[in-house]
Amino acid sequence: MAEGMSKTFSARLQEALLQALSATDFAADLPEGFAPKVDQAQNRQFGDYQTNAAMMLAKPLKKNPREVAAQIIEKFEPADLCDEPTMAGPGFINFTLKEDALAGELLRILADESHHGVATVEDPKTVVLDFSAPNVAKPMHVGHIRSTIIGDSLGRIARFLGHRTITDNHIGDWGTQFGMILWGWKNLLDEDALAEKPVEELLRIYREVNARTKEDEALRETCKSELVALQAGDEENLKIWETCVDVSKQGLQGIYDRLDVSFDHWLGESFYNDRLAPLVDDLLDQKIAEESDGAICVFFPETKGLEDKPAIIRKADGGFLYATTDLATIDYRLNEWKADAVWYVVGAPQQLHFDQIFKISEKRGQSADLEFIPFGSILGKDRKMLRTRSGDTVQLADVLDEAVERAAKVVIEKNPDLEPSEQQAVAEVIGIGAVKYAELSQYRLTDYIFDWDNMLALKGNTAPYLLNAYVRTRAIFRKLGEDYTVLETAVFEEQAEKDLALKLAQFAETVPQVLVDFKPNTLANYLYELAMAYHRFWEACPVLRVEGDLRATRLALCEQTGRTLRTGLGLLGIRTTEFM
Ligand code: ARG
Repeated sequence: MAEGMSKTFSARLQEALLQALSATDFAADLPEGFAPKVDQAQNRQFGDYQTNAAMMLAKPLKKNPREVAAQIIEKFEPADLCDEPTMAGPGFINFTLKEDALAGELLRILADESHHGVATVEDPKTVVLDFSAPNVAKPMHVGHIRSTIIGDSLGRIARFLGHRTITDNHIGDWGTQFGMILWGWKNLLDEDALAEKPVEELLRIYREVNARTKEDEALRETCKSELVALQAGDEENLKIWETCVDVSKQGLQGIYDRLDVSFDHWLGESFYNDRLAPLVDDLLDQKIAEESDGAICVFFPETKGLEDKPAIIRKADGGFLYATTDLATIDYRLNEWKADAVWYVVGAPQQLHFDQIFKISEKRGQSADLEFIPFGSILGKDRKMLRTRSGDTVQLADVLDEAVERAAKVVIEKNPDLEPSEQQAVAEVIGIGAVKYAELSQYRLTDYIFDWDNMLALKGNTAPYLLNAYVRTRAIFRKLGEDYTVLETAVFEEQAEKDLALKLAQFAETVPQVLVDFKPNTLANYLYELAMAYHRFWEACPVLRVEGDLRATRLALCEQTGRTLRTGLGLLGIRTTEFM
Protein backbone atom coordinates (compact mmCIF):
# COMPACT_ATOMS: atom_id res chain seq x y z
CA MET A 1 0.00 0.00 0.00
CA ALA A 2 1.35 3.39 -0.94
CA GLU A 3 2.31 5.61 1.97
CA GLY A 4 -0.32 8.25 1.27
CA MET A 5 -3.01 5.62 1.12
CA SER A 6 -2.87 4.94 4.83
CA LYS A 7 -4.07 8.46 5.63
CA THR A 8 -7.56 9.79 6.06
CA PHE A 9 -9.25 11.65 3.23
CA SER A 10 -8.91 14.96 5.02
CA ALA A 11 -5.18 14.39 5.62
CA ARG A 12 -4.65 13.45 1.97
CA LEU A 13 -6.57 16.49 0.77
CA GLN A 14 -4.58 18.67 3.14
CA GLU A 15 -1.35 17.34 1.69
CA ALA A 16 -2.48 17.95 -1.87
CA LEU A 17 -3.53 21.43 -0.84
CA LEU A 18 -0.11 22.20 0.63
CA GLN A 19 1.44 20.95 -2.58
CA ALA A 20 -0.79 23.26 -4.60
CA LEU A 21 0.01 26.20 -2.35
CA SER A 22 3.72 25.68 -2.84
CA ALA A 23 3.19 25.93 -6.61
CA THR A 24 1.28 29.27 -6.56
CA ASP A 25 2.95 32.65 -7.27
CA PHE A 26 2.33 33.62 -3.66
CA ALA A 27 4.12 30.53 -2.31
CA ALA A 28 6.96 32.67 -0.96
CA ASP A 29 4.57 34.99 0.89
CA LEU A 30 2.62 32.32 2.77
CA PRO A 31 2.51 32.88 6.52
CA GLU A 32 5.10 30.73 8.28
CA GLY A 33 3.81 27.22 9.05
CA PHE A 34 0.45 27.81 7.40
CA ALA A 35 -1.62 24.61 7.66
CA PRO A 36 -4.82 24.69 5.64
CA LYS A 37 -7.79 23.12 7.38
CA VAL A 38 -9.87 20.61 5.46
CA ASP A 39 -13.30 19.96 6.94
CA GLN A 40 -16.06 17.50 6.22
CA ALA A 41 -18.66 19.35 4.20
CA GLN A 42 -21.71 20.42 6.16
CA ASN A 43 -23.77 20.57 3.01
CA ARG A 44 -22.99 17.64 0.73
CA GLN A 45 -24.61 19.38 -2.21
CA PHE A 46 -21.28 21.08 -2.93
CA GLY A 47 -18.94 18.20 -2.24
CA ASP A 48 -17.57 15.92 0.44
CA TYR A 49 -14.91 18.18 1.96
CA GLN A 50 -14.16 21.87 1.95
CA THR A 51 -11.48 24.31 2.95
CA ASN A 52 -11.54 27.97 3.86
CA ALA A 53 -7.80 28.27 3.18
CA ALA A 54 -8.25 30.97 0.55
CA MET A 55 -10.23 33.13 2.96
CA MET A 56 -7.64 32.62 5.68
CA LEU A 57 -4.89 33.67 3.28
CA ALA A 58 -6.59 36.64 1.65
CA LYS A 59 -5.72 39.08 4.41
CA PRO A 60 -2.03 38.27 4.95
CA LEU A 61 -1.52 38.08 1.19
CA LYS A 62 -3.56 41.23 0.61
CA LYS A 63 -5.48 39.53 -2.17
CA ASN A 64 -9.07 38.89 -3.01
CA PRO A 65 -10.04 35.48 -1.52
CA ARG A 66 -11.68 34.29 -4.74
CA GLU A 67 -8.49 35.10 -6.62
CA VAL A 68 -6.48 33.08 -4.10
CA ALA A 69 -8.93 30.21 -4.39
CA ALA A 70 -8.76 30.28 -8.19
CA GLN A 71 -4.98 29.92 -8.13
CA ILE A 72 -5.07 27.11 -5.60
CA ILE A 73 -7.60 25.26 -7.73
CA GLU A 74 -5.48 25.79 -10.81
CA LYS A 75 -2.40 24.30 -9.16
CA PHE A 76 -4.29 21.54 -7.35
CA GLU A 77 -3.40 18.05 -8.53
CA PRO A 78 -6.19 15.78 -7.40
CA ALA A 79 -4.44 12.58 -8.54
CA ASP A 80 -6.93 9.76 -8.03
CA LEU A 81 -8.46 11.28 -4.98
CA CYS A 82 -11.08 13.74 -6.15
CA ASP A 83 -12.52 15.61 -9.10
CA GLU A 84 -11.35 19.12 -10.02
CA PRO A 85 -12.16 21.24 -6.92
CA THR A 86 -14.85 23.90 -7.26
CA MET A 87 -15.19 27.33 -5.73
CA ALA A 88 -18.21 28.57 -3.81
CA GLY A 89 -19.33 31.76 -2.14
CA PRO A 90 -16.64 34.11 -0.89
CA GLY A 91 -13.81 31.66 -1.66
CA PHE A 92 -14.58 28.23 -0.26
CA ILE A 93 -12.95 25.37 -2.14
CA ASN A 94 -14.99 22.19 -2.36
CA PHE A 95 -13.76 18.67 -3.02
CA THR A 96 -15.78 15.75 -4.27
CA LEU A 97 -14.14 12.37 -3.85
CA LYS A 98 -13.85 10.02 -6.80
CA GLU A 99 -15.85 6.84 -6.61
CA ASP A 100 -12.68 4.78 -6.91
CA ALA A 101 -11.16 6.57 -3.96
CA LEU A 102 -14.21 5.70 -1.88
CA ALA A 103 -14.09 2.12 -3.06
CA GLY A 104 -10.39 1.87 -2.24
CA GLU A 105 -10.94 3.28 1.21
CA LEU A 106 -13.77 0.85 1.90
CA LEU A 107 -11.49 -2.07 1.02
CA ARG A 108 -8.74 -0.64 3.19
CA ILE A 109 -10.86 -0.28 6.31
CA LEU A 110 -12.44 -3.70 5.80
CA ALA A 111 -8.93 -5.15 5.82
CA ASP A 112 -8.07 -3.32 9.04
CA GLU A 113 -10.28 -5.41 11.27
CA SER A 114 -9.35 -4.00 14.64
CA HIS A 115 -8.91 -0.30 13.86
CA HIS A 116 -11.02 0.35 10.74
CA GLY A 117 -8.47 2.78 9.34
CA VAL A 118 -7.78 4.69 12.57
CA ALA A 119 -4.04 5.35 12.79
CA THR A 120 -2.25 5.05 16.11
CA VAL A 121 -0.37 8.11 17.37
CA GLU A 122 3.25 8.64 16.42
CA ASP A 123 4.33 9.64 19.93
CA PRO A 124 2.51 7.48 22.46
CA LYS A 125 2.28 9.08 25.91
CA THR A 126 1.90 7.60 29.35
CA VAL A 127 -1.43 9.04 30.47
CA VAL A 128 -2.83 8.68 33.98
CA LEU A 129 -6.61 8.98 34.09
CA ASP A 130 -8.06 10.17 37.39
CA PHE A 131 -11.81 9.66 37.36
CA SER A 132 -14.78 8.39 39.35
CA ALA A 133 -13.02 8.83 42.74
CA PRO A 134 -16.09 8.82 45.00
CA ASN A 135 -15.82 9.44 48.70
CA VAL A 136 -15.95 6.37 50.87
CA ALA A 137 -19.02 5.86 53.05
CA LYS A 138 -20.75 8.72 51.37
CA PRO A 139 -23.24 8.13 48.59
CA MET A 140 -21.87 7.66 45.09
CA HIS A 141 -24.48 9.73 43.36
CA VAL A 142 -25.31 10.40 39.74
CA GLY A 143 -22.78 13.25 39.66
CA HIS A 144 -20.09 10.62 39.99
CA ILE A 145 -21.61 8.82 37.06
CA ARG A 146 -20.47 11.60 34.76
CA SER A 147 -16.88 11.31 35.91
CA THR A 148 -16.95 7.52 35.75
CA ILE A 149 -18.46 7.27 32.29
CA ILE A 150 -16.51 10.11 30.68
CA GLY A 151 -13.22 9.04 32.24
CA ASP A 152 -13.66 5.42 31.23
CA SER A 153 -14.45 6.41 27.66
CA LEU A 154 -11.47 8.76 27.38
CA GLY A 155 -9.25 5.96 28.68
CA ARG A 156 -10.57 3.52 26.11
CA ILE A 157 -10.05 6.01 23.30
CA ALA A 158 -6.54 6.96 24.41
CA ARG A 159 -5.64 3.26 24.56
CA PHE A 160 -7.15 2.61 21.14
CA LEU A 161 -5.02 5.41 19.71
CA GLY A 162 -1.89 3.80 21.13
CA HIS A 163 -1.23 5.70 24.35
CA ARG A 164 -0.17 3.86 27.49
CA THR A 165 -2.97 4.48 29.93
CA ILE A 166 -3.07 4.03 33.68
CA THR A 167 -6.47 4.35 35.32
CA ASP A 168 -6.42 5.27 38.99
CA ASN A 169 -9.42 5.52 41.28
CA HIS A 170 -8.36 8.23 43.74
CA ILE A 171 -11.14 7.54 46.22
CA GLY A 172 -11.75 9.89 49.14
CA ASP A 173 -10.95 7.40 51.87
CA TRP A 174 -9.51 9.80 54.45
CA GLY A 175 -11.92 12.72 54.70
CA THR A 176 -13.55 14.44 57.66
CA GLN A 177 -16.63 12.28 57.10
CA PHE A 178 -14.88 9.59 59.11
CA GLY A 179 -15.36 11.53 62.33
CA MET A 180 -19.10 11.09 61.91
CA ILE A 181 -18.90 7.56 60.66
CA LEU A 182 -16.73 6.45 63.57
CA TRP A 183 -19.14 7.85 66.11
CA GLY A 184 -22.10 6.42 64.21
CA TRP A 185 -20.44 3.02 63.99
CA LYS A 186 -19.89 2.96 67.73
CA ASN A 187 -23.36 4.22 68.64
CA LEU A 188 -25.87 3.53 65.88
CA LEU A 189 -24.70 0.51 63.96
CA ASP A 190 -27.20 -2.24 63.16
CA GLU A 191 -25.07 -5.38 62.84
CA ASP A 192 -27.64 -7.35 60.87
CA ALA A 193 -28.14 -4.56 58.38
CA LEU A 194 -24.37 -4.27 58.03
CA ALA A 195 -24.08 -7.96 57.21
CA GLU A 196 -26.88 -7.81 54.70
CA LYS A 197 -26.52 -4.46 52.93
CA PRO A 198 -23.27 -2.94 54.16
CA VAL A 199 -23.06 0.05 51.85
CA GLU A 200 -26.61 1.10 52.65
CA GLU A 201 -25.98 0.72 56.36
CA LEU A 202 -22.88 2.90 56.21
CA LEU A 203 -24.83 5.46 54.30
CA ARG A 204 -27.64 5.32 56.81
CA ILE A 205 -25.35 6.03 59.76
CA TYR A 206 -23.56 8.75 57.86
CA ARG A 207 -26.84 10.49 57.10
CA GLU A 208 -28.16 10.03 60.60
CA VAL A 209 -25.07 11.47 62.29
CA ASN A 210 -24.83 14.23 59.73
CA ALA A 211 -28.40 15.27 60.52
CA ARG A 212 -27.83 15.12 64.27
CA THR A 213 -24.65 17.20 64.17
CA LYS A 214 -26.56 20.00 62.51
CA GLU A 215 -28.37 20.62 65.81
CA ASP A 216 -25.94 19.19 68.30
CA GLU A 217 -22.78 21.21 68.87
CA ALA A 218 -21.41 18.76 71.46
CA LEU A 219 -21.81 15.84 69.06
CA ARG A 220 -19.92 17.77 66.40
CA GLU A 221 -17.02 18.08 68.83
CA THR A 222 -17.17 14.40 69.74
CA CYS A 223 -17.03 13.45 66.07
CA LYS A 224 -14.06 15.72 65.60
CA SER A 225 -12.20 14.00 68.41
CA GLU A 226 -12.97 10.61 66.85
CA LEU A 227 -11.34 11.90 63.68
CA VAL A 228 -8.32 13.22 65.55
CA ALA A 229 -7.94 9.85 67.28
CA LEU A 230 -8.06 8.11 63.89
CA GLN A 231 -5.44 10.42 62.48
CA ALA A 232 -3.26 9.84 65.54
CA GLY A 233 -3.36 6.12 64.86
CA ASP A 234 -5.89 4.93 67.46
CA GLU A 235 -6.14 1.20 66.96
CA GLU A 236 -9.86 0.74 67.38
CA ASN A 237 -10.66 3.63 65.06
CA LEU A 238 -8.18 2.46 62.47
CA LYS A 239 -9.83 -0.94 62.44
CA ILE A 240 -13.29 0.51 61.97
CA TRP A 241 -11.97 2.80 59.26
CA GLU A 242 -10.38 -0.12 57.44
CA THR A 243 -13.61 -2.11 57.56
CA CYS A 244 -15.57 0.84 56.22
CA VAL A 245 -13.16 1.31 53.34
CA ASP A 246 -13.25 -2.40 52.49
CA VAL A 247 -17.00 -2.58 52.56
CA SER A 248 -17.33 0.52 50.42
CA LYS A 249 -14.79 -0.71 47.90
CA GLN A 250 -16.72 -3.94 47.49
CA GLY A 251 -19.92 -2.02 46.95
CA LEU A 252 -18.24 0.19 44.39
CA GLN A 253 -16.71 -2.78 42.63
CA GLY A 254 -20.21 -4.17 42.10
CA ILE A 255 -21.24 -0.96 40.36
CA TYR A 256 -18.09 -0.83 38.24
CA ASP A 257 -18.60 -4.44 37.16
CA ARG A 258 -22.06 -3.59 36.02
CA LEU A 259 -20.80 -0.52 34.20
CA ASP A 260 -17.93 -2.50 32.70
CA VAL A 261 -15.42 -0.04 34.13
CA SER A 262 -12.09 -1.10 35.59
CA PHE A 263 -9.13 0.55 37.26
CA ASP A 264 -5.48 -0.38 37.20
CA HIS A 265 -5.07 1.14 40.67
CA TRP A 266 -7.11 2.31 43.60
CA LEU A 267 -4.70 4.64 45.32
CA GLY A 268 -7.04 6.62 47.53
CA GLU A 269 -6.19 9.70 49.55
CA SER A 270 -5.03 7.65 52.56
CA PHE A 271 -2.25 6.12 50.48
CA TYR A 272 -0.48 9.48 50.57
CA ASN A 273 -0.71 10.13 54.33
CA ASP A 274 2.99 9.61 55.03
CA ARG A 275 4.05 11.75 52.13
CA LEU A 276 2.29 14.93 53.18
CA ALA A 277 4.58 16.23 55.96
CA PRO A 278 7.80 15.86 53.95
CA LEU A 279 6.12 17.44 50.95
CA VAL A 280 5.14 20.54 52.90
CA ASP A 281 8.70 20.78 54.31
CA ASP A 282 10.08 20.54 50.83
CA LEU A 283 7.81 23.33 49.57
CA LEU A 284 8.93 25.48 52.50
CA ASP A 285 12.60 24.75 51.78
CA GLN A 286 12.17 25.70 48.19
CA LYS A 287 10.43 28.91 49.24
CA ILE A 288 7.40 27.98 47.20
CA ALA A 289 5.28 27.90 50.36
CA GLU A 290 5.35 30.26 53.33
CA GLU A 291 3.78 30.67 56.74
CA SER A 292 0.75 32.86 57.11
CA ASP A 293 -1.13 33.13 60.44
CA GLY A 294 0.25 29.78 61.50
CA ALA A 295 -0.90 28.02 58.33
CA ILE A 296 1.37 27.07 55.44
CA CYS A 297 0.25 28.56 52.15
CA VAL A 298 1.30 28.98 48.57
CA PHE A 299 0.57 32.42 47.13
CA PHE A 300 0.18 33.22 43.46
CA PRO A 301 0.75 36.96 43.15
CA GLU A 302 1.90 36.55 39.56
CA THR A 303 -1.11 34.59 38.33
CA LYS A 304 -4.14 36.39 37.04
CA GLY A 305 -7.24 35.31 38.90
CA LEU A 306 -5.29 33.66 41.72
CA GLU A 307 -3.68 36.79 43.21
CA ASP A 308 -5.93 36.73 46.25
CA LYS A 309 -6.52 32.99 46.34
CA PRO A 310 -3.65 31.27 48.14
CA ALA A 311 -3.72 27.49 48.50
CA ILE A 312 -3.48 26.24 52.07
CA ILE A 313 -1.39 23.10 52.32
CA ARG A 314 -1.16 22.81 56.12
CA LYS A 315 -3.63 24.25 58.58
CA ALA A 316 -2.54 26.07 61.71
CA ASP A 317 -3.54 22.98 63.73
CA GLY A 318 -1.16 20.87 61.64
CA GLY A 319 -3.84 19.18 59.53
CA PHE A 320 -3.28 18.62 55.82
CA LEU A 321 -5.77 19.34 53.09
CA TYR A 322 -7.20 18.09 49.81
CA ALA A 323 -4.60 20.16 47.93
CA THR A 324 -1.71 18.66 49.89
CA THR A 325 -2.84 15.15 49.00
CA ASP A 326 -3.25 16.04 45.37
CA LEU A 327 0.28 17.46 45.22
CA ALA A 328 1.68 14.26 46.71
CA THR A 329 -0.38 12.33 44.19
CA ILE A 330 1.15 14.24 41.30
CA ASP A 331 4.64 13.44 42.60
CA TYR A 332 3.82 9.77 42.83
CA ARG A 333 2.35 9.57 39.36
CA LEU A 334 5.24 11.40 37.76
CA ASN A 335 7.99 9.60 39.66
CA GLU A 336 6.64 6.07 39.94
CA TRP A 337 4.63 5.81 36.77
CA LYS A 338 6.62 8.24 34.64
CA ALA A 339 3.41 9.91 33.54
CA ASP A 340 3.64 12.37 30.65
CA ALA A 341 0.09 13.53 31.26
CA VAL A 342 -2.56 13.32 33.97
CA TRP A 343 -6.21 13.82 33.05
CA TYR A 344 -8.60 14.70 35.86
CA VAL A 345 -12.27 14.15 35.12
CA VAL A 346 -13.88 16.07 37.98
CA GLY A 347 -16.90 18.35 38.33
CA ALA A 348 -16.62 21.99 37.31
CA PRO A 349 -16.89 23.33 40.92
CA GLN A 350 -13.33 22.08 41.56
CA GLN A 351 -11.79 24.39 38.96
CA LEU A 352 -10.03 26.60 41.53
CA HIS A 353 -8.50 23.63 43.33
CA PHE A 354 -6.99 22.31 40.11
CA ASP A 355 -5.83 25.75 38.97
CA GLN A 356 -3.94 26.00 42.25
CA ILE A 357 -2.32 22.59 42.30
CA PHE A 358 -1.36 22.80 38.62
CA LYS A 359 0.33 26.16 39.30
CA ILE A 360 2.19 24.72 42.28
CA SER A 361 3.32 21.78 40.17
CA GLU A 362 4.63 24.26 37.62
CA LYS A 363 6.48 26.20 40.34
CA ARG A 364 8.13 22.93 41.34
CA GLY A 365 9.47 22.55 37.82
CA GLN A 366 7.29 19.61 36.88
CA SER A 367 6.51 19.62 33.20
CA ALA A 368 3.82 16.97 32.82
CA ASP A 369 0.72 17.91 30.93
CA LEU A 370 -1.96 18.22 33.63
CA GLU A 371 -5.49 18.53 32.29
CA PHE A 372 -8.62 19.39 34.22
CA ILE A 373 -11.58 17.92 32.35
CA PRO A 374 -14.64 19.34 34.07
CA PHE A 375 -18.30 18.55 33.54
CA GLY A 376 -21.62 20.14 34.45
CA SER A 377 -24.54 18.83 36.50
CA ILE A 378 -27.33 16.41 35.84
CA LEU A 379 -30.71 18.02 36.26
CA GLY A 380 -34.17 16.64 36.87
CA LYS A 381 -37.03 17.41 34.52
CA ASP A 382 -37.74 20.51 36.63
CA ARG A 383 -34.25 21.78 35.67
CA LYS A 384 -33.13 21.57 39.29
CA MET A 385 -30.50 19.20 40.66
CA LEU A 386 -31.68 15.64 40.21
CA ARG A 387 -33.23 14.31 43.45
CA THR A 388 -35.38 11.40 44.53
CA ARG A 389 -38.99 11.99 45.41
CA SER A 390 -38.07 12.19 49.07
CA GLY A 391 -35.49 14.83 48.23
CA ASP A 392 -32.35 12.69 48.69
CA THR A 393 -29.51 12.61 46.22
CA VAL A 394 -30.16 9.97 43.59
CA GLN A 395 -28.07 6.83 44.01
CA LEU A 396 -26.20 5.52 41.03
CA ALA A 397 -27.08 1.89 41.78
CA ASP A 398 -30.78 2.77 41.79
CA VAL A 399 -30.45 4.55 38.46
CA LEU A 400 -28.88 1.48 36.89
CA ASP A 401 -31.57 -0.81 38.32
CA GLU A 402 -34.34 1.35 37.00
CA ALA A 403 -32.69 1.68 33.56
CA VAL A 404 -32.47 -2.09 33.21
CA GLU A 405 -35.99 -2.59 34.49
CA ARG A 406 -37.38 -0.14 31.96
CA ALA A 407 -35.33 -1.67 29.15
CA ALA A 408 -36.56 -5.14 30.13
CA LYS A 409 -40.16 -4.09 29.56
CA VAL A 410 -39.34 -3.18 25.97
CA VAL A 411 -37.29 -6.31 25.36
CA ILE A 412 -39.97 -8.64 26.72
CA GLU A 413 -42.62 -6.93 24.63
CA LYS A 414 -40.55 -7.20 21.44
CA ASN A 415 -39.16 -10.70 22.08
CA PRO A 416 -41.79 -12.59 24.07
CA ASP A 417 -40.36 -15.96 23.06
CA LEU A 418 -36.85 -15.35 24.24
CA GLU A 419 -35.55 -17.17 27.33
CA PRO A 420 -36.03 -14.94 30.39
CA SER A 421 -32.30 -15.05 31.15
CA GLU A 422 -31.56 -13.85 27.63
CA GLN A 423 -34.18 -11.14 27.88
CA GLN A 424 -32.50 -10.00 31.06
CA ALA A 425 -29.04 -10.00 29.47
CA VAL A 426 -30.25 -7.91 26.54
CA ALA A 427 -32.06 -5.52 28.89
CA GLU A 428 -28.85 -5.06 30.86
CA VAL A 429 -26.96 -4.06 27.69
CA ILE A 430 -29.68 -1.66 26.57
CA GLY A 431 -30.42 -0.16 30.00
CA ILE A 432 -26.80 0.48 30.99
CA GLY A 433 -25.96 1.53 27.44
CA ALA A 434 -28.81 4.05 27.48
CA VAL A 435 -27.60 5.68 30.69
CA LYS A 436 -24.04 5.87 29.39
CA TYR A 437 -25.04 7.15 26.00
CA ALA A 438 -27.30 9.83 27.44
CA GLU A 439 -24.20 11.09 29.21
CA LEU A 440 -21.69 10.74 26.40
CA SER A 441 -23.84 12.21 23.65
CA GLN A 442 -23.93 15.53 25.54
CA TYR A 443 -21.15 18.06 25.59
CA ARG A 444 -19.71 17.42 29.02
CA LEU A 445 -20.01 20.99 30.28
CA THR A 446 -23.74 21.21 29.54
CA ASP A 447 -26.08 20.63 32.44
CA TYR A 448 -28.23 17.90 30.97
CA ILE A 449 -31.69 16.79 31.87
CA PHE A 450 -32.05 13.23 32.98
CA ASP A 451 -35.08 11.92 31.14
CA TRP A 452 -35.92 8.22 31.02
CA ASP A 453 -38.22 8.45 28.01
CA ASN A 454 -35.65 10.27 25.91
CA MET A 455 -32.76 8.02 26.75
CA LEU A 456 -34.66 4.80 26.08
CA ALA A 457 -36.44 5.95 22.93
CA LEU A 458 -35.91 3.81 19.85
CA LYS A 459 -35.71 6.88 17.64
CA GLY A 460 -33.37 9.83 17.93
CA ASN A 461 -29.85 10.16 19.26
CA THR A 462 -30.10 7.30 21.77
CA ALA A 463 -28.36 4.05 22.60
CA PRO A 464 -31.39 1.94 21.57
CA TYR A 465 -31.38 3.59 18.13
CA LEU A 466 -27.69 2.83 17.62
CA LEU A 467 -27.99 -0.68 19.00
CA ASN A 468 -30.91 -1.28 16.70
CA ALA A 469 -28.82 -0.23 13.70
CA TYR A 470 -26.14 -2.66 14.84
CA VAL A 471 -28.68 -5.46 15.26
CA ARG A 472 -29.84 -4.87 11.69
CA THR A 473 -26.34 -5.22 10.34
CA ARG A 474 -26.15 -8.58 12.05
CA ALA A 475 -29.60 -9.77 11.07
CA ILE A 476 -28.78 -9.66 7.40
CA PHE A 477 -26.00 -12.21 7.78
CA ARG A 478 -28.27 -14.46 9.82
CA LYS A 479 -30.81 -14.29 7.03
CA LEU A 480 -28.11 -14.99 4.47
CA GLY A 481 -26.92 -17.92 6.55
CA GLU A 482 -23.28 -16.99 5.94
CA ASP A 483 -20.65 -14.75 7.41
CA TYR A 484 -19.10 -11.88 5.55
CA THR A 485 -16.29 -12.95 3.20
CA VAL A 486 -13.58 -10.76 1.76
CA LEU A 487 -14.72 -8.14 -0.71
CA GLU A 488 -12.65 -8.03 -3.92
CA THR A 489 -14.19 -5.18 -5.90
CA ALA A 490 -16.38 -2.45 -4.49
CA VAL A 491 -18.98 -0.95 -6.82
CA PHE A 492 -21.55 1.73 -6.08
CA GLU A 493 -24.87 2.33 -7.73
CA GLU A 494 -26.75 4.57 -5.35
CA GLN A 495 -25.88 7.80 -3.58
CA ALA A 496 -26.88 6.16 -0.28
CA GLU A 497 -24.07 3.61 -0.72
CA LYS A 498 -21.49 6.30 -1.33
CA ASP A 499 -22.72 8.34 1.59
CA LEU A 500 -22.42 5.34 3.86
CA ALA A 501 -18.96 4.46 2.53
CA LEU A 502 -17.83 8.03 3.16
CA LYS A 503 -19.21 7.99 6.71
CA LEU A 504 -17.39 4.73 7.38
CA ALA A 505 -14.15 6.26 6.14
CA GLN A 506 -14.63 9.22 8.47
CA PHE A 507 -14.38 7.09 11.61
CA ALA A 508 -10.61 7.49 11.21
CA GLU A 509 -10.98 11.28 11.26
CA THR A 510 -13.36 11.30 14.20
CA VAL A 511 -11.71 9.17 16.87
CA PRO A 512 -8.49 11.25 17.23
CA GLN A 513 -10.63 14.38 17.34
CA VAL A 514 -12.16 13.28 20.65
CA LEU A 515 -8.89 13.81 22.49
CA VAL A 516 -8.31 17.30 21.14
CA ASP A 517 -10.66 18.76 23.71
CA PHE A 518 -11.81 15.62 25.50
CA LYS A 519 -15.23 15.44 23.92
CA PRO A 520 -16.65 11.92 23.65
CA ASN A 521 -19.82 13.48 22.25
CA THR A 522 -17.90 14.00 19.00
CA LEU A 523 -17.71 10.22 18.65
CA ALA A 524 -21.29 9.71 19.85
CA ASN A 525 -22.58 12.13 17.25
CA TYR A 526 -20.52 10.47 14.55
CA LEU A 527 -22.04 7.09 15.44
CA TYR A 528 -25.50 8.60 15.32
CA GLU A 529 -24.82 9.97 11.85
CA LEU A 530 -23.43 6.61 10.80
CA ALA A 531 -26.58 4.87 12.04
CA MET A 532 -28.69 7.35 10.08
CA ALA A 533 -26.63 6.82 6.93
CA TYR A 534 -27.06 3.09 7.37
CA HIS A 535 -30.77 3.51 7.81
CA ARG A 536 -31.03 5.49 4.55
CA PHE A 537 -28.92 2.89 2.77
CA TRP A 538 -31.17 0.17 4.14
CA GLU A 539 -34.27 1.86 2.76
CA ALA A 540 -32.74 2.58 -0.65
CA CYS A 541 -30.62 -0.48 -1.34
CA PRO A 542 -31.89 -4.03 -1.26
CA VAL A 543 -29.01 -6.35 -0.39
CA LEU A 544 -30.08 -9.96 -0.79
CA ARG A 545 -32.17 -9.27 -3.88
CA VAL A 546 -29.22 -8.08 -5.97
CA GLU A 547 -26.29 -10.10 -7.30
CA GLY A 548 -22.60 -10.12 -8.04
CA ASP A 549 -20.26 -7.29 -7.04
CA LEU A 550 -23.14 -5.04 -6.07
CA ARG A 551 -24.45 -7.54 -3.57
CA ALA A 552 -20.97 -8.19 -2.25
CA THR A 553 -20.40 -4.45 -1.83
CA ARG A 554 -23.70 -3.98 -0.03
CA LEU A 555 -22.96 -6.89 2.27
CA ALA A 556 -19.55 -5.38 2.94
CA LEU A 557 -21.18 -2.04 3.80
CA CYS A 558 -23.42 -3.86 6.28
CA GLU A 559 -20.47 -5.71 7.75
CA GLN A 560 -18.31 -2.62 8.12
CA THR A 561 -21.17 -0.59 9.59
CA GLY A 562 -21.62 -3.33 12.18
CA ARG A 563 -17.91 -3.38 12.96
CA THR A 564 -17.60 0.38 13.24
CA LEU A 565 -20.69 0.62 15.42
CA ARG A 566 -19.42 -2.16 17.69
CA THR A 567 -15.95 -0.65 18.02
CA GLY A 568 -17.26 2.89 18.32
CA LEU A 569 -19.80 2.00 20.98
CA GLY A 570 -17.06 -0.02 22.67
CA LEU A 571 -14.95 3.12 22.85
CA LEU A 572 -17.84 4.73 24.69
CA GLY A 573 -17.90 1.75 27.04
CA ILE A 574 -21.18 0.49 25.58
CA ARG A 575 -21.64 -3.17 24.75
CA THR A 576 -23.65 -4.41 21.78
CA THR A 577 -26.26 -7.14 21.55
CA GLU A 578 -26.99 -9.44 18.62
CA PHE A 579 -30.74 -8.91 18.81
CA MET A 580 -33.19 -6.71 20.65
N1 ARG B 1 -13.20 12.58 45.80
C1 ARG B 1 -13.41 13.78 45.06
C2 ARG B 1 -14.90 14.10 45.00
O1 ARG B 1 -15.73 13.23 45.09
C3 ARG B 1 -12.89 13.70 43.66
C4 ARG B 1 -11.43 13.43 43.53
C5 ARG B 1 -10.91 13.79 42.18
N2 ARG B 1 -9.51 13.50 42.00
C6 ARG B 1 -8.50 14.19 42.55
N3 ARG B 1 -7.27 13.80 42.32
N4 ARG B 1 -8.72 15.24 43.30
O2 ARG B 1 -15.25 15.26 44.85
